[in-house]
Amino acid sequence: MGAELNGLREQLLVTVREHGGAVDALVADALRTVPRHIFLPDLPPDAAYRDEAIVIKWDDEGTPTSSSSQPTIMAIMLDQLGVARGQRVLEIGAGTGFNAALLAHVVGPKGRVVSIDLDPEIVARAEDNLSAAGCRGVTVLSADGASGHPKRAPYDRIIATVGVWDLSPAWHEQLAPGGRLVVPLDLRGVQRSVCFERADDHWASRSARPCGFMRMRGPAAGPERNYLLDKETRLTLALPESRELDTDAVVEALDAAELEVRTGVTAGPAELYDGFSLWLAVREPRWFGLSEMDPGTRLAKAPLRSPDSRVTAGILDDFGLATLSVEDGELVVTGAERIAEELAAHVVAWDEAGRPGTSGLRIDAYPAGSAATGEYVIDKKSVRLVLTWS
Ligand SMILES: C[S@@+](CC[C@H](N)C(=O)[O-])C[C@H]1O[C@@H](n2cnc3c(N)ncnc32)[C@H](O)[C@@H]1O
Repeated sequence: MGAELNGLREQLLVTVREHGGAVDALVADALRTVPRHIFLPDLPPDAAYRDEAIVIKWDDEGTPTSSSSQPTIMAIMLDQLGVARGQRVLEIGAGTGFNAALLAHVVGPKGRVVSIDLDPEIVARAEDNLSAAGCRGVTVLSADGASGHPKRAPYDRIIATVGVWDLSPAWHEQLAPGGRLVVPLDLRGVQRSVCFERADDHWASRSARPCGFMRMRGPAAGPERNYLLDKETRLTLALPESRELDTDAVVEALDAAELEVRTGVTAGPAELYDGFSLWLAVREPRWFGLSEMDPGTRLAKAPLRSPDSRVTAGILDDFGLATLSVEDGELVVTGAERIAEELAAHVVAWDEAGRPGTSGLRIDAYPAGSAATGEYVIDKKSVRLVLTWS
C-alpha cells in the first residue's frame, strides 16, 4: 500500500507540474510527501490523489462552504508565496488542513504555521487530520481570518485559501518587513491569485494567476451575490454586486434569446478564463457569470467547463441579456439584439487588443481614499486597487 500511495503522489506531482504548479523544489517535495488521502478520510485513496477540488461541507442550500482545493492551484499559490525553511506563516482558510501540512513540510521544524478557519467544526476536523498525518508544527484556530492572528505576529508569509474581497489592514500590520501576501482577490466578480509585497505606502503585486475559490464568509464577505435560477440544473447567475433581480424574467430572457451574433473570434477555454473574463469584468459594469451543472441544458454550448459544470459570461440590463457560447471554436453571442451586439463588441475589442491576459497584469493596492489612478481602478473598503497591463 505504501508503494502504491507513493506512486499516486508522484503521479499527482507530474500532473500538477504539467499544469504549471510546483515549480519550487520545496513545494514539489511537500506534494511528494504529505499524504492528501489522510486529509480526505471519506474518499478512497486513489480519488484523493486526483488533481481536483473536493468539497467537504455544504450549507443548507447546497452551497459548498469548505473543500480541499485543487492541488494545481494550491501548488501555484505556494510557488507565488515563495516560502523558505524556518519561516512563520499565517494561512486563512484551514479547511482539511492539507495546505497547512504542505506549508509545515516546507518551513520544517524550525518554522511555524498558524491556520485559521471561521468554522469551528472544520477546525476540529483539520486538527484530527493533521494529527492522523503525524504533522506537527501547525496551530489551527477558529476565528475570522480578516483579523489575522496578532498574538503570533509577525509572519514572513500570509496566504488566504479562500476568496477575499478586500485586503484587510490586519494582514498589513501582521506581515514582517520583506514579507509576502498571496490571496485569491476579487476583481469585480472574477478572482486572481495575487502575490503582493509592500512598496512604500502601498501593496505592489509581483505575480497574478487565474483562480476560483469559494468566498470568505463573515463580516469581511464581499458584495458578490449568486442567484439560483433553476434548482434542478443548478443554473446559477453570479453578480459582482448584489442588486434587485427578477429571476423569472432572467430565465425567460435566456429561453427567448432570439439573436445570434458571430464574432469571428476563435479562442479556447484557457485563454477565455485567463484573459477575456477579466477584460469583461473590469470594463463592463453590467457583466454576470452563469453556471449550470454538467450536462447543462441551457448552457450546452458554454465556452468554459469545470469538472462538474458549464460556465459562461454575459451582460444584463433592464432591457435584456446576452451570453457567450462557442460553436466549432468560434465565439458566438446569443441574446437580445442591442445587448448581444455590445457583448460581441467586447470580444472583438479584446481580440484586437492582443488578447491581454493575467500574466501582464499589475495591481497596486493603496489605502482607501487614495487619489492614485491607472488604467482601471476598483475601490474596496480598505484599499483602492489600481490595475495596469504591461
Ligand atoms: C477552500 S477551503 C480551504 C482549503 C484548505 N486550505 C485545505 O487545504 O483544505 C476555504 C475555507 O475557508 C474558510 N473560511 C470562510 N470564510 C472564512 C473567514 N472569514 N475566515 C477564516 N476562514 C474562512 C471555510 O470555512 C473553508 O474551510
